[in-house]
Amino acid sequence: MTTIDTLIDAETITARVKAMGAQISEDYAGQEVVIVPVLKGSFVFAADLVRHIDIPCRIDFLGLRSYEGESSTGVVQITSDLTRAIEGEHVIIVEDIVDTGLTMEYLFENLATRKPASVKLASLLHKPARTKGHIPIDYLGFTIDDVFVVGYGLDFDQLYRNLPYIGVVRSED
Ligand code: IMP
Repeated sequence: MTTIDTLIDAETITARVKAMGAQISEDYAGQEVVIVPVLKGSFVFAADLVRHIDIPCRIDFLGLRSYEGESSTGVVQITSDLTRAIEGEHVIIVEDIVDTGLTMEYLFENLATRKPASVKLASLLHKPARTKGHIPIDYLGFTIDDVFVVGYGLDFDQLYRNLPYIGVVRSED
């Protein structure tokens, strides 16, 4: 049997995401931004975050894949690219979780070649115990321990993305 233990409840997530949106709106006041949610994991977070951003923003999704099941394959693939150029634009990447950091390291390098005016990162979660090297997270929701989490967009083998909270999978035989 599989049980999900709640790690961060829905109310706590809502309050934090609202504060992150307010901070982004303040930091970019008077400017336009391009929000780049990284699919699939960030779709729920991004949908909530943009509703708390009150500056003009375009939203363009980017599909990346680096994980199979619970472990990173170490190889990052773009499964779906941006639909417009970002040259001269202020870009905010929206990610579900920075784990090893390999995915974001790849994405920062990739986006830099497209000559944006700036690139910042908003990540809902960070697992510092597993992160290799330094990934600058400009807007961070929560720091968590080294546990595999699901819900609020995050999956385990494509399941559990629809949970309104973040939880830890516990398997009992
Ligand atoms: P990284 O490249 O190791 O930082 O991994 C980034 C991606 O791995 C995230 O965008 C997630 O899709 C996935 N991932 C890492 N840790 C977890 C987890 O605890 N639960 C679900 N997905 C995870």
